[in-house]
Amino acid sequence: MRLFKKWFGRSRPPRNLTPDLASEIRRSFEDSAADEEHFPSTIDPRISHVRFVLETLGPLGSGRALDAGCGKGRFARIVRERNPEATIVAMDLAVSMLQFASPDLTRVAGSLLALPFQDDSFDGVYATESLEHAVDIEAAVAGLCRVLKPGGRLAIIDKNAEHWGRLDTPTWEKWFHRDELLNLLLRHCREADCRPIAYWDDVEPDGLFLAWRAIK
Ligand SMILES: C[S@@+](CC[C@H](N)C(=O)[O-])C[C@H]1O[C@@H](n2cnc3c(N)ncnc32)[C@H](O)[C@@H]1O
Repeated sequence: MRLFKKWFGRSRPPRNLTPDLASEIRRSFEDSAADEEHFPSTIDPRISHVRFVLETLGPLGSGRALDAGCGKGRFARIVRERNPEATIVAMDLAVSMLQFASPDLTRVAGSLLALPFQDDSFDGVYATESLEHAVDIEAAVAGLCRVLKPGGRLAIIDKNAEHWGRLDTPTWEKWFHRDELLNLLLRHCREADCRPIAYWDDVEPDGLFLAWRAIK
């Protein structure tokens, strides 16, 4: 009972990213691309998560944005449609996911833990439900901020550690407390905030998802 109380409402303790775990994660997502129900290739642009990303990035003009852990590129496709002059880089660990992404995107295989991009090279960066799989969260956040230009904007949507246990999760997945990511973001960015987000604007957020926004 004491143990139950101790861990209730917390995310599980971190696992180290050993080479075996890194291979397990990659293999799992390579295999998951066939599962269109849980890893869909499209998303309704009216969903608040999409609007949050678009609003955080702002108009990109002929600039560059990075979708880090893009999956099948469902967010990136919409970001590109709304910003037809911009370059949208869709990056994911799993090549099988990237094969679903639109050819209008610049598709790159890579890891959140070793972003294959130069410092200060994006006007906007976002990560939706991908940071929770990075295991070494501190390093992943540092990388996202590294590739962002000064003044650039960053959006992260992930699950709230206060709601840990509501869904089945793989052993490496981590959910975040609001302040945990805010503190990491503020190591690299001049401003950061966080709010709960629902799927639809006319529905009160149930607390499962949090949306962080930062300006470098
Ligand atoms: C739940 S899916 C979300 C995909 C997409 N962001 C979306 O919202 O549709 C998580 C994605 O993160 C990718 N991923 C997991 N770990 C990663 C890492 N270390 N670097 C890059 N991508 C990663 C997976 O391959 C998978 O496509």
